[in-house]
Amino acid sequence: MANANPTTQSPVNPTRFKLMKLIIFVLLALIILVGLTVLIIWLTIRPRKLVYFIENGSIHNYNLSNGNHLNATYNFILSAHNPNKKVSIYYDKVDINVLYDDETISRGTINPFYQPKRNTTRFKLNLASHDVVLLDPIARDIKEERSSGQLKLHVKLKARIRFKVGVWKSRHYRMKVSCAPIMVHFSSSKGFQRTKCDVDF
Ligand SMILES: *[C@@H]1O[C@H](CO)[C@@H](O)[C@H](O)[C@H]1NC(C)=O
Ligand SMILES: *[C@@H]1O[C@H](CO)[C@@H](O)[C@H](O)[C@H]1NC(C)=O
Ligand SMILES: *[C@@H]1O[C@H](CO)[C@@H](O)[C@H](O)[C@H]1NC(C)=O
Ligand SMILES: *[C@@H]1O[C@H](CO)[C@@H](O)[C@H](O)[C@H]1NC(C)=O
Repeated sequence: MANANPTTQSPVNPTRFKLMKLIIFVLLALIILVGLTVLIIWLTIRPRKLVYFIENGSIHNYNLSNGNHLNATYNFILSAHNPNKKVSIYYDKVDINVLYDDETISRGTINPFYQPKRNTTRFKLNLASHDVVLLDPIARDIKEERSSGQLKLHVKLKARIRFKVGVWKSRHYRMKVSCAPIMVHFSSSKGFQRTKCDVDF
């Protein structure tokens, strides 16, 4: 910054110059104060990503007709973990899709819920395919995997969530959770490999 001394030959009126200096000083102080406040709030809240797992999964009542109509029921245990110490979450809408080869074979929802800080909530997802018509190549793939005793599924969640910090509630955010590959075994004696999901919002 130029080190102009108002008592020398400056053309600026000295009282006006002092006023400008004061205004600039106050503005700078305000900017620093706001910046520090935001930093402190951020450090105390420090939002962390939500963590999802498919803890268990199984398939029952599988029947694929020659006309490529699929019937089956799927049971999954989904765990939703909120690691945040200051942030709780409203889940206002949660849609579930089960896919095979990028084709949706079952849909469901989770009822709206509120998740406190540092909380893990487990959901039993009971889903089904009722006479779902599959494309030929997809039906072929499923039959082939069926004969090997397991099916590779993909579970996707789409949620509308809000964050709550103290009494403040955020706007709505869209969150996508993608869990794949989920290997479900037709034989219940085979163990399930817990699957971590990707979270995106
Ligand atoms: C997964 O579910 C199956 C059947 O529902 C059950 O027998 C098995 O114990 C469960 N495994 C775990 C790790 O919870
Ligand atoms: C599968 O469904 C077909 C037609 O609905 C039926 O005839 C057949 O018995 C079923 N198979 C099994 C294993 O349930
Ligand atoms: C699927 O279930 C429906 C009844 O829920 C039945 O009418 C249909 O034949 C079944 N299809 C197969 C392939 O099992
Ligand atoms: C998580 O929150 C739910 C809903 O408030 C509550 O029922 C459950 O007991 C909590 N679980 C843990 C581990 O705190």
